[in-house]
Amino acid sequence: MKNRIFVSLALLLVWGGAKAQKSLPVYLDVRKPIEQRIDDALRRMTLDEKIAVIHAQSKFSSPGVKRLGFPDFWTDDGPHGVRPDVLWDEWEQAGQTNDSCVAFPALTCLAATWNPDMARLYGENLGEEALYRGKAMILGPGVNINRTPLAGRNFEYMGEDPWLASRMVVPYIQGLQSKGVAACVKHYALNNDEEYRHQVNVVVSDRALHEIYLPAFRAAVTEGGTWGIMGAYNLYKNQHNCHNDIMLNRILKGDWKYDGVVVSDWGGCHNTDEAIRYGLDMEFGTWTDGLTMGKTNAYDLYYLADAYKQLIKEGKHTTKELDDKVRRVLRLFYRTTMNRQKPYGFLCSEAHYDVARQIAQEGIVLLRNEKCEKRNEKWAAPLLPLDLTKTKRILVVGENAIKMMTVGGGSSSLKAQREVLPLDGLRSQLSIKHSALSIDYARGYVGDTIQSYNGVTVGRSLYDLRTADELRAEAVEKAKQADVVIVFGGLNKADYQDSEGHDRKQYELPYGQNELVEALVKANPRVVFVNISGNCVQMPWIDKVPAVVQGWFIGSEAGHALADVLTGVVNPSGKLPFSWYSRLEDCGAHATGSYPGTWRQNERIIDEEYKEDIFVGYRWLDLPDKVRATMSKVKPAKPLFAFGHGLSYTTFSVTQAHADKKEMTLDDNITFTVSVKNTGDRAGATTVQLYVCDLKCSLPRPVKELKAFSKVMLQPGEQRDVQLTLDRRALSFYDDRSQQWTAESGDFEALIGLASDDIQSKVKFKLK
Ligand code: BGC
Repeated sequence: MKNRIFVSLALLLVWGGAKAQKSLPVYLDVRKPIEQRIDDALRRMTLDEKIAVIHAQSKFSSPGVKRLGFPDFWTDDGPHGVRPDVLWDEWEQAGQTNDSCVAFPALTCLAATWNPDMARLYGENLGEEALYRGKAMILGPGVNINRTPLAGRNFEYMGEDPWLASRMVVPYIQGLQSKGVAACVKHYALNNDEEYRHQVNVVVSDRALHEIYLPAFRAAVTEGGTWGIMGAYNLYKNQHNCHNDIMLNRILKGDWKYDGVVVSDWGGCHNTDEAIRYGLDMEFGTWTDGLTMGKTNAYDLYYLADAYKQLIKEGKHTTKELDDKVRRVLRLFYRTTMNRQKPYGFLCSEAHYDVARQIAQEGIVLLRNEKCEKRNEKWAAPLLPLDLTKTKRILVVGENAIKMMTVGGGSSSLKAQREVLPLDGLRSQLSIKHSALSIDYARGYVGDTIQSYNGVTVGRSLYDLRTADELRAEAVEKAKQADVVIVFGGLNKADYQDSEGHDRKQYELPYGQNELVEALVKANPRVVFVNISGNCVQMPWIDKVPAVVQGWFIGSEAGHALADVLTGVVNPSGKLPFSWYSRLEDCGAHATGSYPGTWRQNERIIDEEYKEDIFVGYRWLDLPDKVRATMSKVKPAKPLFAFGHGLSYTTFSVTQAHADKKEMTLDDNITFTVSVKNTGDRAGATTVQLYVCDLKCSLPRPVKELKAFSKVMLQPGEQRDVQLTLDRRALSFYDDRSQQWTAESGDFEALIGLASDDIQSKVKFKLK
């Protein structure tokens, strides 16, 4: 009897469940394909609901469709950690106590790892932080090409090379989105400098657009499958990029078949009609006077709000474009907020700190490491790693040894749960192991003492009222007593440094650092300069300073990672993602006088013509003098450090490469094998780089272009084969005559080495 009751009950439950499933509307039925669910949801939405989802309701959110069960959609910066929550309609932080984060290294550092596995880890871990914080989309990563070292936001991007940026952006997106959090790749496109970013109209050839400035975005879409793209502030062909027919409709949604949303940069939308027709899907950050000022809802005044509704009501627009926008937004909802398979999020987990440290360790670049000029027997080896058996007194100098870099710089500013400062990192690591060692500190210079951003303030005061002379004199006096002097200098996140909204005003190091370094090396030649920045800087004293390290902005674990590299716990393996010019005029944008552009008579628009064309970074420096002379009178000096350069505490050799064939066809690949050997006595990693040279082409081409790379870790004495494969894409250029990518048959050469100026092996091959 009992059994019979049980069976009947079970049947009832199954029947009831099936009935419930059956009555589930299609748009909520997880078994149905997403496109079908979108169709169903779209049919059920009112005009008001459709208009509501395509624009913001607060600084960082848009409403879902509550009647149908779609929750609010929250987004946040990006790209180095999850930004603290801000007030509903203000930039000021809301003052929550649960919105600190792990600050991951800035994207220049990620690019300097030359390790796509690091980018994947970056995305995954950031995604977990975003999930915990309830953010469905992270505003990043940024892949604007580093065209000039003055550009204030280069630190948020991935360097000067389209191939390197493409290989690094794809796994970042995939890692992030594997957690059900959308990437929003920015700033599409041609946002290559910050000064006048709202007014600059970029004039660029089709070739440079497609070969240099678009490839990383294209990879983000066609390979990374990004769910979000942020339009840039600037104009292209006199149209703002947040509603730009060519950029958004033709290239992004047409040629690349992008099915995600285009989000405006905050305040980047300027016109209702253009926003309707030219590809914008979600409007954010347009100016409002704030809910506190008494408007019922200032967000109704957005370009894609009441004004759009009115045009539809008046019959001036149909809902054709609106439905396309809403479809994209619903697709984004299904991928994120409506995705029931999302994993759990974690905030500030130790695993996230470990990843932040690992990326930082791999991205730090050892630029120079010489024996000390005035050497004696005791100090006969290169200055780094610090020889702790002989070092008793270390002097640390410089503001950047004690300055938090996660606060400031614009929208990427964070409220890090912790940030280990360089001085603290060094002290904690060395004092554990070497009690006899003393570490002293001298400020050396005062730079930026404002340590707050949008209400996030740093506990430590940096005020120091001493004069520059007094600060320098103190450092010099102490340097005389030290075995080694480590200067943490460079730039910071203040306005006109590495920061959003403006560009740097000068290529030189600010705050009298050059005078300081010169004085220090005179007092003690054993100086290590650790440059903290996202850009290169002039180093007039380079020949006198035996060791230089590029330390980037590396987030929460900065002090630990830097100490790891300086002391040799980690063998550096980062490589520069940009060329480090000797002088500013050695960079194409400046050599051609095309930065920052020319104001039109009305003084509202500044035209910036990219006169160096496709020859950006090393492509400019490599040019034969005769060719460069047609564009500029400036003959560049040898760069301080070439693109792809980065030393190690061990040494590597590369054998002559060989190819698996002599001729390839357009449907074929060609693979080069090269053997790399660790010829030193420490384990270490290096990156083998392959550049393609098109020996004869109907259009001018760069002398070489990076088209493959591989990072390899080797034990002392170990030798390993590395294979690098090229396909037709690697041999192609954008032919502006036919408006398509073309690979011309003929002779090519693969140039393989460990930096763009360290080519160790060349192999000729043919494309049939
Ligand atoms: C920046 C974007 C950022 C947005 C939201 C804008 O000023 O250009 O990169 O995502 O603000 O903070």
